[in-house]
Amino acid sequence: MSIYRNAVWFLKGMQEYTRCGYEAAAKRFNPSDLEVNLSGRSFMITGANSGIGKATAQEIAKRGGTVHMVCRNKGRADAAKDEIVENSKNQDVHVHIVDMSNMKQVWQFAQDFAQGNTLHVLINNAGCMINQRELTEDGLEKNFATNTLGTFILTTALFPLLKQATDPRVVTVSSGGMLTQKLNVDDLQFEKGAFDGTMVYAQNKRQQVIFTERWAAQHKEVHFSSMHPGWADTPAVQTSMPSFHAKMQSRLRTEAMGADTAVWLAVSAAASKLQSGLFFQDRTAVSTHLPLAASRATPQEEEKLMNVLEEFAQKFKP
Ligand SMILES: NC(=O)c1ccc[n+]([C@@H]2O[C@H](COP(=O)([O-])OP(=O)(O)OC[C@H]3O[C@@H](n4cnc5c(N)ncnc54)[C@H](OP(=O)(O)O)[C@@H]3O)[C@@H](O)[C@H]2O)c1
Repeated sequence: MSIYRNAVWFLKGMQEYTRCGYEAAAKRFNPSDLEVNLSGRSFMITGANSGIGKATAQEIAKRGGTVHMVCRNKGRADAAKDEIVENSKNQDVHVHIVDMSNMKQVWQFAQDFAQGNTLHVLINNAGCMINQRELTEDGLEKNFATNTLGTFILTTALFPLLKQATDPRVVTVSSGGMLTQKLNVDDLQFEKGAFDGTMVYAQNKRQQVIFTERWAAQHKEVHFSSMHPGWADTPAVQTSMPSFHAKMQSRLRTEAMGADTAVWLAVSAAASKLQSGLFFQDRTAVSTHLPLAASRATPQEEEKLMNVLEEFAQKFKP
């Protein structure tokens, strides 16, 4: 089944996830959707110093939004902030140093931020594909910690703040790679079998799509969405998937193309009118499963994922 899913997914990707795929899809975009004034609205973007996150921060700053960049490296974050301020002429851009794989830091940051700030939109963008099994100082597998648990804790810890805002939204940058995965809730730390970073990453991205759907059902006051940026030429693709990058380089999207749907979901009036909890590609809600892929989890498995993540979250709460 996994060979079938990978093959169907790759063929789909060659048609839809490339630069050509973006250009074809963009013909039906409504340009006025992004003609918005974001002054008075506050956006938090994780991993905003690079790639899709930086391009997203740039588009929001250009439209007058307050930007909170959540990054792990001060040097890289400050350099990106200077570039964003310079290009957008918007001074309301702020750096927060948080390692998204460190659960205590994520909790502490969210709690501190909630004192005295407003937040309209959270964009969960930070992500990684680490190809060897590495553990964080808390003993968590690093991809799971960064992509799944860090995102889960940051978002749930910020719910009370988001719920005080007008038109609150949570956008999670997942990946079309998740289409190759069925949720495996029994081995979230990837302790069993051979470790395959691509597969682990895709499993984390499936988890993000599932918790987005679950949150949408539970928290009606907030608009949730997850999305696939397509295949964009970013540092993550260059370093984590060097042979894919070398083969595909001329067909990859720009970072701005990769960011387009995240920006649209975060700022457009059109996006917030759509049902909460959907998965998007090129400004369109798309299926979270490939045809005949047998990748659907049972409600019990999804419930178990939520319970396990909540237990982990409580364990690391300060
Ligand atoms: N590019 C694609 O084709 C593609 C396709 C599907 C999905 N995505 C998703 O798009 C998102 C952005 O990735 P990208 O392609 O734009 O790559 P990127 O340029 O490498 O950006 C990843 C960002 O995440 C940050 N990050 C990673 N681990 C972190 C941690 N522990 N704490 C805080 N920040 C952390 C990175 O910070 P540093 O600069 O410090 O490393 C960087 O700012 C990811 O979620 C990725 O899975 C990308």
